[in-house]
Amino acid sequence: MKLLYLLVVIATLLSMKPHTPQSVTDSPGENAIFIVYGLKEGAKEPVKSLCADFSALVRSVRNRFPEQQASIVMGFGADAWKRLFPDQPVPQELKVFEPIAGARYTAPSTPGDLFFHIRAGRMGSCYDVAAILEDRLRDVIEPIDEVHGFRYLDGRAILGFVDGTENPAVDDEGYRHAVISAEPYFAGGSYAFVQKYLHDMAAWNALQTEEQERVIGRRKYNDRELTDEQKPANAHNAMTNIQDTAGNDLKIIRANMPFANTSKGEYGTYFIGYASTFTTIRRMLENMFIGQPEGNTDRLLEFSTAVTGTLFFIPSYELLAELGKEK
Ligand code: HEM
Repeated sequence: MKLLYLLVVIATLLSMKPHTPQSVTDSPGENAIFIVYGLKEGAKEPVKSLCADFSALVRSVRNRFPEQQASIVMGFGADAWKRLFPDQPVPQELKVFEPIAGARYTAPSTPGDLFFHIRAGRMGSCYDVAAILEDRLRDVIEPIDEVHGFRYLDGRAILGFVDGTENPAVDDEGYRHAVISAEPYFAGGSYAFVQKYLHDMAAWNALQTEEQERVIGRRKYNDRELTDEQKPANAHNAMTNIQDTAGNDLKIIRANMPFANTSKGEYGTYFIGYASTFTTIRRMLENMFIGQPEGNTDRLLEFSTAVTGTLFFIPSYELLAELGKEK
């Protein structure tokens, strides 16, 4: 009985601590570097030390370049979380992403232990942060993926359409959709799902603008949404607009960035969605890749191939500090 009482007191105290989210609701920004690392043996100490210093690192970048709205987000894959912090509970939905294989399209699952999302007004500042991180972790990391994204014109995907319009506003609504509250120990954290897409630009550019608009569900020139009569059932914004059983909109915060390597013919979108529950993102993906109803897949996938897919947990600043003190 005493033990139960003690557990309740501890749980209450934990849930009263402040839970400050990392910069998961920031806008996509001008420049971004997305880095996914694997971790080698012996990673625990350097990663713990980075966790302990992380908020100081973010403060330093912001103080040095106040005009650049710099931000850094740090996250952990499921395997790494369990390996690095075996005594910590595991966030309810932190699992290795299970691939989604529909009849026509597949969302693959690719490995990832540690994730960084670095944003700043200038790419030089993003680089500066990436170099600091690499320097601190050099002996214990192996590279898996690194993408350098840029803001394209007025915030467009490389396909030429404005991206991010339906993101929830960065106020209470944004936090409600992007930041965990239902899991008290992990309150202030988020789930982040990243997916690198490559586009078939020749096929896309061969479409008339009106047909492209029917793929996205919005006008290209001014971003106006197509009416219900104009919008096909397989338009991207029809597939990803989802509700709960009570009819409330389920949203996520996206901070996608275009990237390109024109001489190699590589044109892409780095998709990143932050959410309070991964189930929301997974439902959107299932609609896109399996179809809603089954077989009615997202037409965007005719021109876009997902080549990576990894789920990360983004702890609050307070939990990061705790991790820094782990034995
Ligand atoms: C090739 C990759 C992708 C591209 C180029 C892309 C681009 C876009 C564009 C241009 C819009 C319309 C403007 C807006 O509301 O932001 C949009 C909407 C949206 N996308 Fe994507 N997207 C991609 C992948 C995804 C994925 C993988 C998800 C979810 C797992 C997703 C979720 C959404 C949501 C929730 C909306 C808003 C729907 C609404 O109107 O309510 N997108 N996307």
